[in-house]
Amino acid sequence: MAKLNIIIAPDMRLKRKCLPVDTVDAATAKLMSDMLETMYDAPGIGLAAPQVGVAKRIIVVDPAMEKAPLAPIKMANPEIIWTSDEKKTHEEGCLSLPQEYDIVERPDKIRVRYVDEKNKTQEIEADGLLSVVIQHEIDHLEGTLFVDHISSLKRGMILRRLTKQKKQGRTYYDTEPA
Ligand code: NI
Repeated sequence: MAKLNIIIAPDMRLKRKCLPVDTVDAATAKLMSDMLETMYDAPGIGLAAPQVGVAKRIIVVDPAMEKAPLAPIKMANPEIIWTSDEKKTHEEGCLSLPQEYDIVERPDKIRVRYVDEKNKTQEIEADGLLSVVIQHEIDHLEGTLFVDHISSLKRGMILRRLTKQKKQGRTYYDTEPA
């Protein structure tokens, strides 16, 4: 396994619409494992392929984080096929927007169809933190960040702060080039 560089916003690579995966082959499965290692190391509870510079519809999530047992889920072509009418708010952060948090409203429960690391189609229902993380990561595949769900005023403040820190050469992850 290998650790990957996490791209920090603002960056055009985080704004692209990602392409579907044809087949989850050995190379895709390795990318999924590398993404998971990168996510645990950061540490975070979700990571999408565009955050490591790959414009493909791949995400990894694990809301258990450092609490044992770990519960990683690797998804290619994840698709939300049902959402509850009930919505909930949750404070979200993002490895591409380090140390920035805000409240986002999303459907409480979802049903997701995806292709797993063995190229098998799976379906799961999720609520609570798992539901939030999956929706947040699928957003990344459309070039949408959590700040796109908040007011333009707050979004502007966060992105300006990150731009300034980039100009100062500040880094967050030890794999990020200085
Ligand atoms: Ni994110």
